[in-house]
Amino acid sequence: MSADTTPAVPRHLAVIMDGNGRWAQRRKRPRAIGHRAGARAVNVCIDFCLEKGIGALTLFAFSSENWGRPQDEVGALMKLFLNALDREVDELHRRGVRIRFIGQRERFSESLRARMAHAEQLTAGNRRLQLVIAASYGGRQDIADAARSLATDVANGKLQPEAIDEHALAARMSLADLPAPDLFIRTGGDHRISNFLLWQLAYTELWFTELLWPDLDVDALQKAIDDYAGRERRFGLTSAQVNPGAVENSPA
Ligand code: IPE
Ligand code: IPE
Ligand code: MG
Repeated sequence: MSADTTPAVPRHLAVIMDGNGRWAQRRKRPRAIGHRAGARAVNVCIDFCLEKGIGALTLFAFSSENWGRPQDEVGALMKLFLNALDREVDELHRRGVRIRFIGQRERFSESLRARMAHAEQLTAGNRRLQLVIAASYGGRQDIADAARSLATDVANGKLQPEAIDEHALAARMSLADLPAPDLFIRTGGDHRISNFLLWQLAYTELWFTELLWPDLDVDALQKAIDDYAGRERRFGLTSAQVNPGAVENSPA
């Protein structure tokens, strides 16, 4: 395994935190209670990354499509985001966490946007863990925004169409300054990407669990990174190419 392509511990973990609603429904409680319980699991996940030395964590908190949920659920989620920012940001800052947000933040209320900006400014110099919250985020939107940004430069004569390649597009996408996620985790039992980081997950290792997000614990996270550590990432090459030292067991 080559050290720069497959580090033993993921450099960047991307997580779809799914299953809050079902967690509440199983307890015959309103879905909002599940979201509140889910906020606790966020701390479990952040603590785990800090402990393991995982350098970047991207959490899918709210998708572009989630705006279509019933108004009272969207309202409850917005209140929860606001409270979570008020409650957690100072402590995260103290622990060396840099916080930022990706997604269409203009869709959030003024007060929420102000808190997001404050969290980003306060923690901008931190290096221990890069925490990215994807909120009102859609992977397709991300790609479309990058394409529009390139097209604008072409229209203004700043860029030749021939100069547009995958690196040029990647440079305009969210998370351009971070390594692509090494590991993706989705809780809640569904095996899909749900418009999360479509571009950035091209060669990410995927791991799914039936656990509902509020039930997430250290054991589950450890299982995920143990499983990851045992995988061979080939990036389109052969096993012998990426792992030349391994004993070949091929027929004569
Ligand atoms: C994930 O949990 C949180 C958000 C999408 C905001 P869900 O609310 O999707 O929970 P389920 O999937 O309905 O159980
Ligand atoms: C994905 O979960 C979005 C977040 C966790 C924020 P969803 O619950 O919205 O995804 P689907 O509807 O099951 O695909
Ligand atoms: Mg869901």
